[in-house]
Amino acid sequence: MEIRATDTPLLDWTGDGLAIGLFEDAVELAGNLATLDERLAGVLQELIAETEFKGKEGSSAVTRVGPGSPVRKVMLVGLGKPDSPKLDNWRRAAAVVARSAKKEKCKTLGISLPVWDHEPFKTTQAIAEGIQLALFQDNRFKSEPEDKGPVLEQVDLLGLGGQEEAIVRAQQIATGVILARELVAAPANEVTPISMAETAQAIASEHGLQVEILEREDCERLGMGAFLGVAQASDLPPKFIHLTYKPDGTPRRKLAIIGKGVTFDSGGLNIKGVGSGIETMKMDMGGAAATLGAAKVIGQLQPDVEVHFISAVTENMISGHAIHPGDILKASNGKTIEVNNTDAEGRLTLADALVFAEKLGVDAIVDLATLTGACVIALGDEIAGLWSTDDAVAAQLTQAAEIAGEKLWRMPLEEKYFEGMKSQIADMKNTGPRPGGSITAAVFLKQFVKETPWAHLDIAGTVWAEKENGYNSAGATGFGVRTLVNWVFGES
Ligand code: BES
Ligand code: MN
Ligand code: ZN
Repeated sequence: MEIRATDTPLLDWTGDGLAIGLFEDAVELAGNLATLDERLAGVLQELIAETEFKGKEGSSAVTRVGPGSPVRKVMLVGLGKPDSPKLDNWRRAAAVVARSAKKEKCKTLGISLPVWDHEPFKTTQAIAEGIQLALFQDNRFKSEPEDKGPVLEQVDLLGLGGQEEAIVRAQQIATGVILARELVAAPANEVTPISMAETAQAIASEHGLQVEILEREDCERLGMGAFLGVAQASDLPPKFIHLTYKPDGTPRRKLAIIGKGVTFDSGGLNIKGVGSGIETMKMDMGGAAATLGAAKVIGQLQPDVEVHFISAVTENMISGHAIHPGDILKASNGKTIEVNNTDAEGRLTLADALVFAEKLGVDAIVDLATLTGACVIALGDEIAGLWSTDDAVAAQLTQAAEIAGEKLWRMPLEEKYFEGMKSQIADMKNTGPRPGGSITAAVFLKQFVKETPWAHLDIAGTVWAEKENGYNSAGATGFGVRTLVNWVFGES
């Protein structure tokens, strides 16, 4: 599929499907649209009336145009309220249009949407992202691809001529989001610590990043007892991934991005019970997937910022080698942890990753983790939790997420809750009481960051979509990649 930015006037465009974006309660056809309606024998007006189309965000309507007209189908798509609309409405409208064009067997599609906030580059990028993310289909595990028939071959973005670079940008971002989706969606017998390390190596050689894979012995030497404790029951070797992107010249800032990389979470000896969603726990490396997806994009976009991409990858399994509930582990900063619940494994792997990241002397650290079911209870599957020791980093991430169309909500890093993790015998336990479970998890992580500004994103809910929603199909969303890329590019 080719996406083109073009200045072909709306009235001159010919092809299979023509999509027109309209704001809410502003669906009277004027100017160009009125002329188009006349040429199409009033079909637009009729469609609006017949479907009671109001331009609501996410709404759409489509109809066949009579034979002999310059277009075969016309589609209307709603952009929501015209006052301070969100850029993500453009991404979502493009997704609706792309899905509809596919359903209507269009080979060529013209899209005419207004420019968002006088920003043609961002508008074009958002539309192109929406199209590609909506049309991505994961056929890797099907013996035969599901839908056959004509595929969309060409999409023209009308009125956005000259914005070719924005389309390239969108394509680069989409490769990262799709990589993250593929990693999360692939089962744990495909995506393993070994395959994750190979993926990191492939990204490094393809996009010119440095890569270092620490083996179990390397991690032992660094004293990563928390990470290795989680890894000790698995038959697969743990892999500690460290990718580095370095710009030419002096970097404007140095950042570290850490992703939880548990390729399967059985819970360990505190095994996940019936109804706990154990069969979905292949997605417990969603943070690492977003990290690798972001690395792939950053490698292509080449910002003037040094970025370290880190993930302590392992399975959380059960065997005669498994940690016993009550075992005491020592992390690489010397702190001791009484493991009162082997299912709170993510924070153990992250503890050593955080210590490692801080030693690199970066200006800020962000971690992403499918960390707690409690976060899903608190915020659902649309919104990720954000905890931060630093208001500036929190603000940067909030802004980065807004432009990305990914929702974050800041949560409190309540020190008092650390009391719930006091251990009689060690420095701390790894879990506190059930109430505030996503907060105690964040407060636990904080014990492993000394002074570097740090933020934690709990993406347990957002990494997976139960059903199709905008440009996300049911399944892995690739959540986090776009926010991370925007964060790296943003001002410090
Ligand atoms: N990977 C899970 C968290 C999770 C739950 C992710 C649901 C996605 C969907 C994590 O390792 C875990 O098991 N957390 C426990 C912590 C508890 C033992 C304190 C949880 O949330 O139940
Ligand atoms: Mn767990
Ligand atoms: Zn987990």
